[in-house]
Amino acid sequence: MTAPSIVILTGAGISAESGLGTFRDEGGLWAQHRIEDVATPEGFARNPQLVVDFYNARRAQAAEASPNAAHRALAQLQAEHAGSVTLVTQNVDDLHEKGGSTDVIHMHGALNSALCATCEHRWPAPLAMSVGQDCPNCAGPTARPDIVWFGEIPYHMERIERTLANADVFVAIGTSGNVYPAAGFVQMARHVGAETIEMNLEPGENVGLFDDVRPGKASETVPNWVAEILAG
Ligand code: OAD
Repeated sequence: MTAPSIVILTGAGISAESGLGTFRDEGGLWAQHRIEDVATPEGFARNPQLVVDFYNARRAQAAEASPNAAHRALAQLQAEHAGSVTLVTQNVDDLHEKGGSTDVIHMHGALNSALCATCEHRWPAPLAMSVGQDCPNCAGPTARPDIVWFGEIPYHMERIERTLANADVFVAIGTSGNVYPAAGFVQMARHVGAETIEMNLEPGENVGLFDDVRPGKASETVPNWVAEILAG
């Protein structure tokens, strides 16, 4: 038998034990900030300073954070599994990369990237971005955080859908299943007959669509699952 093709979707829960807050858990980011203010194009147009400050704070936090056992286990899986392992994350931190993963698909963007709203050029974001920063390509004063806001289309969707169409195993880790299109990936995986596994502290909104539900902290459930897969 050929080694299974694995597609993994991660969310904020995988970085929680690295000290980065989730969005919807009690006291999470969306209890402290209004989505409309800091995570929409309209919010950015209304008050760019508020939005830039919000992502500067998150970038500073992420820069201080270290990967945990779950990030490291997924990097080991990528390195050692004989079949393909596609790692898609909704997270904008770089803890997968710090944990040793390569080719991470950041469908909601990345804190360490800046985007020009005029010419769509991307460059490494400084630790603290400022409002109206010039684009190094077109010189327009239109730099923005390279984050996919509500109402915008997530990145790399064609590649993700192509990979899901060939998945044998789909695993969702630390994501509440509230935000589409990511919350719908499990349905696409089921459609092609993939085995579906959820690893979350609390069951996600779409938990009923998973064949196997493994509750618990990602730092425990993920290394255990990776050990199982690598043992064959
Ligand atoms: P949420 O905050 O909605 O969900 C976090 C999930 O992680 C919950 O299901 C928790 O039970 C689980 N969790 C918390 N701690 C955990 C741990 N130690 N181990 C395992 N699981 C744990 O975060 P996301 O689902 O990632 O988008 O949110 C999706 C998107 O909504 C984000 O990418 C962001 C947000 O709005 C944008 O900003 C565009």
